[in-house]
Amino acid sequence: MTTLTLPADAAGIARATALLKAGEVVALPSETVYGLAGRAADPAAVARIFEAKGRPSFNPLIVHVADRAQAAKLVHIGPVADKLIERFWPGALTLVLPYRLGARLAPRVRAGLQTVAIRCPAHPVLQAVIAGTGPLAAPSANASGGLSPTRAAHVAASLDGRIPLILDAGACPAGVESTIVAVDGEHISLLRPGAIDAARLGINAAASTGISAPGQMDSHYAPRQPVRLDARTATLNEYHIGFGAVRGDITLSASGDVDEAAARLFDLLHAAQASGRSSIAVAPIPERGLGVAINDRLRRAAAERTH
Ligand code: TXA
Ligand code: MG
Repeated sequence: MTTLTLPADAAGIARATALLKAGEVVALPSETVYGLAGRAADPAAVARIFEAKGRPSFNPLIVHVADRAQAAKLVHIGPVADKLIERFWPGALTLVLPYRLGARLAPRVRAGLQTVAIRCPAHPVLQAVIAGTGPLAAPSANASGGLSPTRAAHVAASLDGRIPLILDAGACPAGVESTIVAVDGEHISLLRPGAIDAARLGINAAASTGISAPGQMDSHYAPRQPVRLDARTATLNEYHIGFGAVRGDITLSASGDVDEAAARLFDLLHAAQASGRSSIAVAPIPERGLGVAINDRLRRAAAERTH
């Protein structure tokens, strides 16, 4: 199959909407990373998502909705979830909530769980497409286990020939995936640190329970080369990614700003992967604010490969 990249203008959005309604999958921009979307109610489209990514079927998908009302048709929203929704939607917060029996969702979206991960994205392009298609299941638009895409070219590098269309809206503003929390009665637990600092949710990331999302395998976000962390200096064979005072071949944020570093993280890892060097060395990143999400991604990128 030929993969087309189109600008995310009105014509591009119309094309994406038509493909999705016909049961196809399309890569779409969001405020976090690019997602590989298919209609959440359509079992064939959901099957195509798993196939295009090579995603293990035990790993459930996030459902993207237009608003709270659309979410309420799919999951049970209690008072604690409602407070989070009021404060953080639309935006980069994914809530894992009890599945509503009989909801119009392809079974594979939940991968056998009794919960659904759901989020209302803020990106205008994704919102415009959802307005025409209804809820969209969308994991990050990369081959399973690889680097997440924050640009259309990253999607093409990973999924070219496997999907019909990528809508290009430039770089994703946040650059790391959504923060995922499970809400169980009064209790909120952090499943994945992400673009919304968990401290803003009243959760202490360090003290959070050991539960994690089924897809958070130890090795994840892995470039082709091995990755070495906390590298203040690097050898000639290494592509060095700097931060703050540690200047590398390329630097995440010269001023030591963790938000800027998060926005550039995957872009620089893609550049490092394409550099041809035999390994990648990354400067230490402080464990504060979005540094928590960055270090989570880097530790998994450096973990022993299981795939
Ligand atoms: O920012 C994001 O969240 C992006 C954009 C496209 O929205 N999406 C994304 O999807 O990062 P993905 O599939 O790469 O990561 C979703 C994570 C996986 O680790 C999966 O296991 C977890 O969410 N997940 C999905 N449904 C779940 C559920 N019912 N319970 C626990 N974890 C769940
Ligand atoms: Mg992913």
